[in-house]
Amino acid sequence: MAVAIQFTDFTWTYAHTSRAALRAINLTVHQGECIGVIGPNGSGKTTLAYSIDGLIPGQYHGIKHGQVDINGREVEDYAKGTLQREVGLVFSDPEAQFTAMTVEDELVFGLENLGLQIPEIRERLEWVTELTGLAPLLEKPPYEISGGQKQRVALAAVLAMRPKVLVLDEPTSMLDPVSRKRVFQVLDELRKQENTTLVLIEHGLEHVVPLADRMVLLSGGSIVLDAPTPTFFEHLDLLGQHGIASPGAVEVVSRLKADGRYDGELPRDVDGAEAIVRELLAATGSKEAR
Ligand SMILES: Nc1ncnc2c1ncn2[C@@H]1O[C@H](COP(=O)(O)OP(=O)(O)OP(=O)(O)O)[C@@H](O)[C@H]1O
Ligand SMILES: [Mg+2]
Repeated sequence: MAVAIQFTDFTWTYAHTSRAALRAINLTVHQGECIGVIGPNGSGKTTLAYSIDGLIPGQYHGIKHGQVDINGREVEDYAKGTLQREVGLVFSDPEAQFTAMTVEDELVFGLENLGLQIPEIRERLEWVTELTGLAPLLEKPPYEISGGQKQRVALAAVLAMRPKVLVLDEPTSMLDPVSRKRVFQVLDELRKQENTTLVLIEHGLEHVVPLADRMVLLSGGSIVLDAPTPTFFEHLDLLGQHGIASPGAVEVVSRLKADGRYDGELPRDVDGAEAIVRELLAATGSKEAR
């Protein structure tokens, strides 16, 4: 499988700070893989996102060691504006992203910049409007819509570009539960349809866990745990030390596993946990009956 994102001994220290925001990061993400990145506030998650998208070192001052490669080429070797064709970044603060007078123009703007023909732009506009449910908002100025709606527009604008690598930095922080669920469904569909590589930075673990193949825990700028999602949550003590609470359904089964009462894979969601617990209860029941 081709490597989409490769961090090699990457260390970044913002100008005028004494402590590295990311230190000695080694991370490989394959094409089509989805990784969830979690960590306490200030652990370097956003800095990691910026380093994939080239904002670091392009837009920020600081000291860099090591390198980041996207699709086999170092971030700094991409000609101006070309990395953005490979990598889409959705920020948590959508305001910073808007430049156009209407939502529709906002969606079309990036596509025009890609040099696409009008029929292709129309097709993508329709696709993304449908996918994100933005039809009623197309004529509105971006500054007149709600925070949650802005987040959906920001996501749609990036999705429309169909980047091979999509980095989402808390993309649903302002959304209501229904819209949030929908966004994660959209990401799942996109992954299946387009084999998009996803880096998902998100506090809402219950949404990330079902989607992520792997989870990465950042703390103090370092990767302290990088494991396939089913084994990641077996590290209860390490996660606890870094203030990470597992999703309830996962934790219940992880505790059963730590107690030696279960030895299979951890579930991804409540349904999975329920099936495991039912099976354990059934087995206990048949023992008691004997
Ligand atoms: N522009 C900047 N200049 C100087 N230091 C910065 C800058 N941006 C972030 N930092 C510092 O770098 C470290 C990592 O910050 P970063 O924003 O990447 O963390 P985060 O994990 O995204 O946090 P949060 O959960 O709050 O979003 C922090 O110590 C932060 O203070
Ligand atoms: Mg952040």
